[in-house]
Amino acid sequence: MDSKNIALVGFMGTGKTSVGKILAKKLNREVMDVDRRVELGEKRKITDIFEKEGEAFFRSLEKEAIREASQKKGVVITTGGGAMLDPENVEILKGTGWVIRLSARPETIFARVRHSRQRPLLKGKDMLSEIKRLLALREPFYQKADLTFETDGQNSSEVADRILEALKGKLS
Ligand code: S3P
Repeated sequence: MDSKNIALVGFMGTGKTSVGKILAKKLNREVMDVDRRVELGEKRKITDIFEKEGEAFFRSLEKEAIREASQKKGVVITTGGGAMLDPENVEILKGTGWVIRLSARPETIFARVRHSRQRPLLKGKDMLSEIKRLLALREPFYQKADLTFETDGQNSSEVADRILEALKGKLS
């Protein structure tokens, strides 16, 4: 029987990449990080793609990377914070496995991303206000996930264990 994929979605700074790595290790599965694949394909950073080509171009590369990753079976796919905004991405990810949303309070997100140089959408802005604004805009899109896990006050390993517990027996 084909194994279902696990896609981690949710806002920047909710721990998708680190939780995904732990999940993949515990399940002995491959992890496909969508942002990383875009960067490898383009041989440059996402911030550079945003700066030179703009967000729309990045979104088309992101969609292609999601499509490619979803052709695999039984992998953990970690996505960027905007992936759920495109209904086609949602359809692809839901059609091939579980879509798991990680969430956190705006203040927690701010504390996690404030020193990051890799978040072009927050660059040069009042970060906390922008996080709150984007979170509110994106909430209905994130709600399309199958399951949501709050991550405030927890480390990635604890979050991964809760996800594994919830998906026990549901991955084939
Ligand atoms: C984005 C989140 C980023 C990256 C890009 C756009 C977003 O990924 O895909 O900067 O729209 O929220 P992370 O969620 O891993 O930071």
